[in-house]
Amino acid sequence: MDALIKTLFQTFAKSQSANKMARKYGLRFGASRFVAGETIEGAIDAVRSLNASGREATLDHLGEFVATEAEASLSAMMCLKTLDAIASSGVKANLSLKLTSLGLGISEEVCLSNLTAILNRARMYGLFVRIDMEDFAQCEKTIAIYKRLREQIDNVGIVIQAYLYRSIHDLEELKDLKPNLRLVKGAYKESPKVAIPAKPDVDDNYKRLIATHLKNGGYAAIATHDSGIIDYAKQIIHELNIPNERFEFQMLYGIREDLQLQLVREGYKVRVYVPFGSDWFGYFMRRLAERPANVWFVVKNFFK
Ligand code: FDA
Repeated sequence: MDALIKTLFQTFAKSQSANKMARKYGLRFGASRFVAGETIEGAIDAVRSLNASGREATLDHLGEFVATEAEASLSAMMCLKTLDAIASSGVKANLSLKLTSLGLGISEEVCLSNLTAILNRARMYGLFVRIDMEDFAQCEKTIAIYKRLREQIDNVGIVIQAYLYRSIHDLEELKDLKPNLRLVKGAYKESPKVAIPAKPDVDDNYKRLIATHLKNGGYAAIATHDSGIIDYAKQIIHELNIPNERFEFQMLYGIREDLQLQLVREGYKVRVYVPFGSDWFGYFMRRLAERPANVWFVVKNFFK
């Protein structure tokens, strides 16, 4: 049953017509638990309250299904505005973005030109930009673009997904760049040919990636709500004597706030991923797919 609900939400997340319809009606069905409003101002307010409790943030302007250069430029413009808002408000936050929203599906040149403009603006403000990892079809291209950029600049990082068989090899390939990597389990529906199907095996691979990356010497953003993985990370960080400047924990806005605050109290750096914007539907569906028990949360909100 859970697997069926998961597949259903993952399929909805990719439906352009459902996304379009949702955009028209505004944040609904309890999505505001996971999405910090539709405007930059709302998102900055959310970051302010996270900062007040000792948490930092990474802001993501949500955007899906970019099909034209004009849409990609608009999306890039929103990233620039977000950087401007972070700088002018003085909140502790950086930026996360998706290459498909900058035009990766149109051409690498379009995407790279938008991304370069964003990275230059971020560098001007001394801000860091994280490139999110999307579905497997984008993985190779995303890593290639990251490598090219990382050779020249250091305010950029990417994401490595523990469910992919290739990820352990990617760590090896990237290690000389001393990369800043966010390590996650992986949120998309993938074929068992490329992704580890069983959750306990994904968890084991996640632990292996954390240990390997820390030993390789890069910066680790350990992004999970799984307390077992977090405990493992704390233990290996202690064993390897990794200083606080080389890692942080990350969680999603609206999920496991208790754990976020506990880590802050224990003296760890915690960054919360704060998505905002009118294109909230795909993101919301992926969050529901991660935890089919959330279906009751949607049903309850549907009738509110
Ligand atoms: P797991 O799914 O095992 O959950 C552990 C526990 O956390 C659950 O038992 C529950 O208590 C809680 N929990 C998890 N998800 C929940 C939810 N949706 N609602 C309520 N409770 C929930 N993926 C990707 O493919 N590319 C990316 O770029 C990113 N970026 C990213 C950034 C950050 C900061 C985070 C935290 C995560 C991502 N992800 C991601 C998503 C990631 O791949 C993964 O799908 C989710 O983090 C859920 O997996 P967990 O590691 O939390 O473990």
